[in-house]
Amino acid sequence: MEELLMNDGRSIPQLGYGVFQVDPAETEELVSIALEAGYRHIDTAQAYRNEQGVGDAVRKSAISRDALFITTKLWNPNQPVDRAMASFDESLEKLQLDYVDLFLIHWPQPMFDEYVDAWKVLEKIQSEGRAKSIGVSNFNVDHLQRLFDETGTVPAINQIELHPGFDQAELRDFHRKHNILTESWSPIGGTGGSLLDSPELMPLAQSKGKSPAQIVLRWHLQLGCVVIPKASKRERIEQNIDIFDFELDEEEMRTVSAVRSDRTGPDPRTFDMR
Ligand SMILES: NC(=O)c1ccc[n+]([C@@H]2O[C@H](COP(=O)([O-])OP(=O)(O)OC[C@H]3O[C@@H](n4cnc5c(N)ncnc54)[C@H](OP(=O)(O)O)[C@@H]3O)[C@@H](O)[C@H]2O)c1
Repeated sequence: MEELLMNDGRSIPQLGYGVFQVDPAETEELVSIALEAGYRHIDTAQAYRNEQGVGDAVRKSAISRDALFITTKLWNPNQPVDRAMASFDESLEKLQLDYVDLFLIHWPQPMFDEYVDAWKVLEKIQSEGRAKSIGVSNFNVDHLQRLFDETGTVPAINQIELHPGFDQAELRDFHRKHNILTESWSPIGGTGGSLLDSPELMPLAQSKGKSPAQIVLRWHLQLGCVVIPKASKRERIEQNIDIFDFELDEEEMRTVSAVRSDRTGPDPRTFDMR
């Protein structure tokens, strides 16, 4: 498994298993399958209500804690400082862990103006060693700039919607300049998406002896992104990690980049679900 270096000196496995919309009752089993398949990085969140299942799978696996990379995220209603720390304590309890590898602010919610103070709570949690790395999710350039200006620190990662047709080139460029890793969510177009049916992908997939999903996931790796596909069946979970034995050349990368699709999730400037 390839690892990428974060700006705090720690590394993150470039591919992880995402558990958004994984039923809490099935999470332990699916995460166990992912761990058996070789995943060492799991992406959950307070909002997914399945941290407990992730923790159960980790506890029952024979894999040592330091070989695993576990991410969770501060859910929107927990951004006020009086809730942020308590909600993190609950996350650790559900995960049955002493620390997470990465803790993210899930959405900026600029209309509530709480994310700078929430970030200071994440800094405290990191200083206590209970989150080894801290970062954000769904932050635009202006949200990141405000964090730099008001706290003087730079998040390790920004996890954002990113897939062919919505490649976030400008934001990725900003990340590169500031040494922030880009992590792609909905990397293969999300649940119910039609991205994988794009006509450009099948001929390329056939020529490589891979599936359209594998081609798209490989595209993310070669862009330098961390990528966290979700799947609900063993076969797909195994397929999605089997992407380290081939490469896309420049023209093939351009073919994938030319796939047309739009944003599928909410716009971070206006998303205020809490
Ligand atoms: N930070 C955020 O705000 C945010 C938002 C969304 C997601 N995320 C994270 O990103 C992760 C991935 O995003 P996502 O779940 O929205 O979408 P995704 O990984 O792009 O797509 C998941 C969909 O693709 C299907 N799929 C998986 N592997 C496949 C394959 N090999 N061939 C064909 N179809 C395949 C899945 O079907 P089945 O499940 O039926 O197998 C599911 O319908 C999430 O689990 C979560 O960890 C973060």
